[in-house]
Amino acid sequence: MSLWGGRFTGETDEHFAAFNASFRFDRRLIFADLRACVVHAAALGRAGVLQPTEVEAIVEGLKKIEEMVVEPGFLDRPEFAATEDVHSFIEARLVELIGQTGYKLHTARSRNDQVAVATRLFLRDEIEQIDATMRDAQRALVELAERYADDPIPGYTHLQKAQPILFAHFLLAYFQMLARDRERMAQVKKRVNVLPLGSGALAGTNFPVDREWMAAELGFDGVTRNSLDAVSDRDYVIEFVNAAAMTMMHLSRLAEDLIIYSTQEFGFIKLGDAISTGSSLMPQKKNPDSLELIRGKAARVFGHLTALLTLVKGLPLAYNKDLQEDKEALFDTINTLTASLRVTATVLGNIELDRERARQAAIADYTNATDLADYLVRKGLEFRKAHEVIGRIVLSAIEQGKQLHELTLTECRQFSPLFEQDLFDAIRLENSLAGKNQAGGTSPDQVKKELAKAKADMGIQD
Ligand code: ARG
Repeated sequence: MSLWGGRFTGETDEHFAAFNASFRFDRRLIFADLRACVVHAAALGRAGVLQPTEVEAIVEGLKKIEEMVVEPGFLDRPEFAATEDVHSFIEARLVELIGQTGYKLHTARSRNDQVAVATRLFLRDEIEQIDATMRDAQRALVELAERYADDPIPGYTHLQKAQPILFAHFLLAYFQMLARDRERMAQVKKRVNVLPLGSGALAGTNFPVDREWMAAELGFDGVTRNSLDAVSDRDYVIEFVNAAAMTMMHLSRLAEDLIIYSTQEFGFIKLGDAISTGSSLMPQKKNPDSLELIRGKAARVFGHLTALLTLVKGLPLAYNKDLQEDKEALFDTINTLTASLRVTATVLGNIELDRERARQAAIADYTNATDLADYLVRKGLEFRKAHEVIGRIVLSAIEQGKQLHELTLTECRQFSPLFEQDLFDAIRLENSLAGKNQAGGTSPDQVKKELAKAKADMGIQD
């Protein structure tokens, strides 16, 4: 029996029926929907709308459906092929199991508040799992940072060598990004975790269902305050995809950095076989496909975000069927984000730093020029002037094909009488690093502190 029989005399066109159907994908909501159904039935009983025996029959039926659908392949049975959506599927099975009483479950409810409650419940639980996966990725960053706690690499701006940093400092930058991403997700979860059930199709319901009670039963933090809003907005889905897009953006940047560092030209890191691929043609190749795919999949999630914003922007209140299109974007975002986080953690566990090469690269190409300028500042010169002096020294060094430490004191003094023998100390890599000793800087002391804090956050023992 279709959900809207009475008013219709004609049959639904078969192409339109297929077009309209969402069971193929919204079956993923079935456990969340069943849970909400159980609580809705109980609320109808508490309101005196259903007899206790009816509630019992319905709840038992729902539990049976839950047992049936865990059986692998059950939902793919050919007899369910024409099912419209997960909601009509549940009602049809319920009536098969318990008879006409099954039709009473839809009292005081519309599929509009039903789909909203199922989606919110589902998403709330998914966010909890995603948080654990984000944490695993953070943990992998911390473990790698710990393995190479004292090793320098060059830091870049404009992808030009800038100043030496610790590899651990670089990794902990991404740790911070993921920490904010987790915070963002936790905030999204708070707004997802609100009960829309009891909003009916758009106006509320004539039956005195206790919404606060249903919210408490389902672990929601509260109830929606406006029925039109509750059935028609999808900001909680969009917000989630936005937070996911932000994380994908961060993972993509990390991927890009690691791809660059693993090239022959940079050669700072080696990627393990487990996360690399070869070429079908060139026998010597080892490609960072894992990282390239993470970078690529970010685009996919950004696309979902744009699709969802566009989906909702022109919709009049309240529910419109356009909203059914939210689901594939949401589900694919969850899948893509989860997989990308997992692969990121795996890649981080399969990285080796070429310590010596990274160190040489950190020293070369005048990455200590700023330290030499700061040296002159400490000797009393204005920074702008010191910058100018060192700029001219660098130019001269480039012309001679020398690094700064290869210049003599006499040569340096031609540019400024403030130079003394201790200039060579000031530009040593160790001192350059140790000097950046304010909170958040790359000095070994600061990085050690941040690493210890990160480890404590991750519950890693010393
Ligand atoms: N499958 C629908 C969706 O995902 C459920 C709600 C249908 N409501 C309606 N009035 N047709 O949006």
